[in-house]
Amino acid sequence: MYKHIPGTKDILPDETSLWQSIEETSRNIFSLYNYSEIRTPALEDVSLFNRSLGESTEIVQKQMFLTKSGEDVYCLRPEATASIVRSYIENSLDKTVGFSKLYYIGPMFRHERPQKGRLRQFHHIGCEAIGSFEAELDAEVISLADYLLKGFLIQGYKIKLNSLGCLKDKARLTELLRDRLKGELGALCQDCQVRYNGNVLRILDCKNETCKNVVEKIDLKDSYLCPECKAHFLKVREGLDSLGIGFEYTPHLVRGLDYYTGTVFEISHPELGSQDALGAGGRYNNLVKELGGPDMGAIGFAFGIERLLLVTKLQGQKVTSKKLSYLISLGEEAKKQGIKLLESLREKGIACDTDYEGRSLKAAMRRANDLGANKVLILGENELKNGVITVKDMVSGEQKEVALESLAKDLKC
Ligand code: HAM
Repeated sequence: MYKHIPGTKDILPDETSLWQSIEETSRNIFSLYNYSEIRTPALEDVSLFNRSLGESTEIVQKQMFLTKSGEDVYCLRPEATASIVRSYIENSLDKTVGFSKLYYIGPMFRHERPQKGRLRQFHHIGCEAIGSFEAELDAEVISLADYLLKGFLIQGYKIKLNSLGCLKDKARLTELLRDRLKGELGALCQDCQVRYNGNVLRILDCKNETCKNVVEKIDLKDSYLCPECKAHFLKVREGLDSLGIGFEYTPHLVRGLDYYTGTVFEISHPELGSQDALGAGGRYNNLVKELGGPDMGAIGFAFGIERLLLVTKLQGQKVTSKKLSYLISLGEEAKKQGIKLLESLREKGIACDTDYEGRSLKAAMRRANDLGANKVLILGENELKNGVITVKDMVSGEQKEVALESLAKDLKC
């Protein structure tokens, strides 16, 4: 028997209603903030991510799914921000539209060790606002993330916020950290010893307990921020305060992708355990230019849908009764007429189905119940003779005869 690849997951029909509910809620909320959907390919040129995310990042070093095609090396996208910036520039949206608010929903791929909340194919709901440096936009984007979580009926999350500053500030932060960690190298894990030279900021993110102890003692605050970045960050915090959005200033928060500059944030949930990030994002003010576009500020975030599903209270609200009419035809002639009846109901916008497995009346009723049908339509010889059909309401249990020509109208009520 074939099995799914570890770290991937079948989303079965009894779960898809929940997925659709998350997706629909997202689309509605994104449109409230005037975002439009963008869809980019799952396959991209690998160099796009090497350049955007950074050669020394965990994703580029260890987690890319690569595929060779002749001389070219493609990869399954590990995230969508780089793809969207690529598309934004390639399709000249900077010239035709300028400031753009874009959202996306789709699969991402990372070769990670599978565990709870960590998959090799997972899904993002995310957005990118490209073309503005304004701090008010940062506050709006974070409020959008907060609004989405409320829309998914998720409570108890924490928004952690920090600013990495501009490229010069990031370089200053890097130096500062190297300096503070110089005497502590021996206490760091092997990975962090390598990170010390390659990507020292990642040491702040290390989950190893001894590294955490070392890092906790380092007082960072905002000493590395230049006056403009300090002022920007203050405005973001004031904006969030004025919107009533709670956040925690977390000076040790850095992100695992090199493109971030300025505001960064992460939203965690205690019920998720060790992989506690529901979503994360931030500014990437240099990426559009870095990939060949103009000098444009940008900010975005992404939620992992699988992690949202682990904590959403929508889980308990499984749909028990849907708008579905289930036809039970008794006898050959009723079956023949039944097929036509179903087609005419569908033409009038009524969702309906019937039994194709030769069930008895009792078994077909059970099936209608399992499917969550709200109405059962019974068509037998008597009904056919009299031009009527028996309609049973599955919620109230009430049963009545309805003239065939007024069935659609009756079902719509
Ligand atoms: P990220 O933090 O790498 O950011 O991913 C965002 C979210 O995706 C995580 O917080 C987590 O919920 C989910 N996630 C990540 N990896 C996995 C995995 N292996 N299995 C399940 N869920 C996972 C980004 O990808 C950025 N592109 C976000 C962004 C958009 N920044 C600016 N714009």
